Amino acid sequence: MSVEKSVRERYSEGAREKQEALCCPVDYDRELLKLLPREIIDKDYGCGDPSRYVRKGDTVLDLGSGGGKICYMAAQLVGPRGLVIGVDMNDDMLAMARKYQSEMAEKLGGDRVRFHKGYIQDLALDVAAMERYLAERPVTDAASLAALKSWQAEQRKTRPLIADASVDLVISNCVLNLVADDEKSQLVREIFRVLKPGGRVAISDIVADEPVSRHLKDDPTLWSGCISGAFEEREFVRAFEQAGFSAVCLDKWEVEPWQVIENIEFRAVTLVAFKGYGRECLDRGHAVIYRGPYAEVRDEEGHIFPRGERIAVCERTFRTLTEGPYQKHFIGIEPKIPAEPVAWCAPPGTRRPAAETKGGRQIAECGGEKCC
Ligand SMILES: C[S@@+](CC[C@H](N)C(=O)[O-])C[C@H]1O[C@@H](n2cnc3c(N)ncnc32)[C@H](O)[C@@H]1O
Repeated sequence: MSVEKSVRERYSEGAREKQEALCCPVDYDRELLKLLPREIIDKDYGCGDPSRYVRKGDTVLDLGSGGGKICYMAAQLVGPRGLVIGVDMNDDMLAMARKYQSEMAEKLGGDRVRFHKGYIQDLALDVAAMERYLAERPVTDAASLAALKSWQAEQRKTRPLIADASVDLVISNCVLNLVADDEKSQLVREIFRVLKPGGRVAISDIVADEPVSRHLKDDPTLWSGCISGAFEEREFVRAFEQAGFSAVCLDKWEVEPWQVIENIEFRAVTLVAFKGYGRECLDRGHAVIYRGPYAEVRDEEGHIFPRGERIAVCERTFRTLTEGPYQKHFIGIEPKIPAEPVAWCAPPGTRRPAAETKGGRQIAECGGEKCC
C-alpha cells in the first residue's frame, strides 16, 4: 500500500472516530481550548503546541491541519488583522474542520480561518481545483496525462494555492513524519518558499534517536501512526539548514519518549527556525558584538563571532542579528554616517575598529528576555 493511501485511510478513520493510538499527550493552553468544540478537542492527533509561537497580525499556515484545532487556537492569537490557513489532503478531516467554521467565526468575531485541500509537499498545487479539472477531463491515456501535467504546471505558476513569500509563520503538529521520505526535502523547501523574508517556522513532530530500519518504515500501521516515518533527530535539523533556514533550534524536547520500538526512541520535539532577508551583501559600515556565553559562535553563512569583539557585518546580516531570534545574543552598532554601499562581505571574523562606528546608534535590546 502506498504511504499516501495508508495515511489517508487512517486519518479518515480518525475523523470518524477518536483513535486512541494516535493521541500523544500535549499540554495545550487551556484558555485557548475553551472556545473549541468538544469534537475537535477529542480528535486531536498532535504531539506539541506550535500555536504558542503565533503573534498578533500574523498570516499563519498550518500544515496538515486535521480537525482544525491548532488553526482555531491560532485564530484567537492572530487577532482581527491576522489570517490562519490550514492545508490538509484528507476530505474527512477538512469536513470536520469546516463544520465548525461559522460557529468559530461567530465566537471569534470574524472569519479569519481558511481550510484548503492540498499536499504539504506541493503547496502550490490546488488539489480541489485539480479535482474539478479531473471530473471534466479524466486521465485515460498518455495524452490526457500530459494535458493534466501541463495544467498542473500552469496552475502552480499562475494560481498557486499558497503563493511565494506570503506567510509570516508556518506551523505544523505531528505531520511531517507522514510525508514519504523521498518528498521530505521538497516539503521543507516548500515551507521556505511560502515564507516572507524574516518569516518563522514552528514545527512540532516526532523524531527518532536512531535510524529507522526498512521493515519498520514498510509497516503501514507504524507509518500512519506517526512513528516510523519520523525524521532521525539530526536529519530533522539538517533538512531545515539545507533548505536555507537560519537560527534552527530544537526549542522543545520531550525527555520521555512517546514510543520505544526495537530500542529506538520516538519523541516529540518542536523545531523553530527563521527565514533570513535574502543573500545580498552590502557593506555600509555596520558591526555587531557577540555577547557570549560561548567563546565563539558561527552562523549558517559561515560568519564567525568571537565573544566581545566588534565584527564587521553587511547591512542584511546586521538586520538578521539584531531583529530576529539572534537578537538577544548580539549588540548591534550602526555606523554614525552610513558609508556608500559596497557589494562585499567581510571575511569571517573581520574586526571593525571602534573608531569606525563611534557615535553610531547602538542596539542592545534583548526582546524582554535576560540577555545572558
Ligand atoms: C497526525 S494528524 C495531525 C492533525 C493536526 N495537526 C492535529 O494536531 O490534530 C496528521 C494530519 O496530516 C494530514 N496529512 C498527512 N500527510 C499529509 C500530506 N502529505 N499533505 C497534507 N496533509 C497531510 C492528515 O490527513 C491528518 O489530518
